[in-house]
Amino acid sequence: MTSYAIETHEMTRRFGDLRAVDALSLQVPVGNIFGFLGPNGAGKTTTLRLLLGLLEMDGGSASVLGYDVARQAGAIREHTGVLLEQHGLYERLTVYDNLDYFGQIYHLDKTSRAARIRELLEHLELWERRHSGISELSKGLRQKVAFARTLLHHPRLVFLDEPSSGLDPVAAVALREDIQRMARSEGVTAFLTTHNLAEAEKICDVVGVIRKGRLITVGTPAQLRTTTGKYTVEIYGRGFAAEAIAALRSLAQVSAVELQNDHLSVQLHEGAETAPLVGLLVQNGAQVEEVRKGSSSLEEAFVALMQEDT
Ligand SMILES: Nc1ncnc2c1ncn2[C@@H]1O[C@H](COP(=O)(O)OP(=O)(O)OP(=O)(O)O)[C@@H](O)[C@H]1O
Ligand SMILES: [Mg+2]
Repeated sequence: MTSYAIETHEMTRRFGDLRAVDALSLQVPVGNIFGFLGPNGAGKTTTLRLLLGLLEMDGGSASVLGYDVARQAGAIREHTGVLLEQHGLYERLTVYDNLDYFGQIYHLDKTSRAARIRELLEHLELWERRHSGISELSKGLRQKVAFARTLLHHPRLVFLDEPSSGLDPVAAVALREDIQRMARSEGVTAFLTTHNLAEAEKICDVVGVIRKGRLITVGTPAQLRTTTGKYTVEIYGRGFAAEAIAALRSLAQVSAVELQNDHLSVQLHEGAETAPLVGLLVQNGAQVEEVRKGSSSLEEAFVALMQEDT
């Protein structure tokens, strides 16, 4: 058994002239939460479908949980849970009957199906709605049922395509907690796509950014925030007079200074020291209370990456 839950090598898929996934090579260690980020049409969903064997690749190779994607897609689907953009539930069946049906497909016996369905529906606060038809549910409630279906058979790996799409903030937090708990206490690997970069920043161990089918970068959210060469420090305090700000601006390592309500936002060149900034401010009569480093968000890093790589 390999130590990678997902491994791809030069995986490629074309649609006509379009390279939807272009020589994608990546490794996701077991138990990691991997966030796949990228603009609309970048190739995220196509990657998921390739990894599940729902689409054939034109080149390269991939394995999931040690199973070869081209030859052992059945085994992959058996051991993984999948939440795709289309929820794949039967509109005319009830919540309960949908889960019961999928439980049978996963070969769960009657008793364990009943227990697992009840456990998941109670946990997701859907037990009261178990007799509702899927077509009667709101978008977010359907998404929750789809999430329950993903987890029915205790998969070792979950593929989640925009899992928090349509969920209210409380439900989105609960979903993130579920994913984290599974990863931390059960060693379940999660491969998720999201357009919510704050979400990726909160839960992902590693994020990969894809654009036009090509993987641009992979790293921890913290690494990604700093690879853009934009590095921000926030200095809280009082007495930031014009001359103090001018003195900061004159430093070689400083690229921009902005005075916001109660703090200065200072942009530094990569690797610059912050201590001299504080010294200079104090010399110029300011009182420094707190310095916060690296507050440039993943969102800013993402936007910078999109502009860089055309
Ligand atoms: N079956 C298909 N036939 C033709 N083109 C396709 C097909 N499926 C996907 N594509 C194209 O491949 C590219 C990648 O699509 P994909 O769905 O993987 O993007 P995505 O990263 O998931 O985007 P989004 O964030 O909008 O969900 C897009 O240009 C899309 O139009
Ligand atoms: Mg998609």
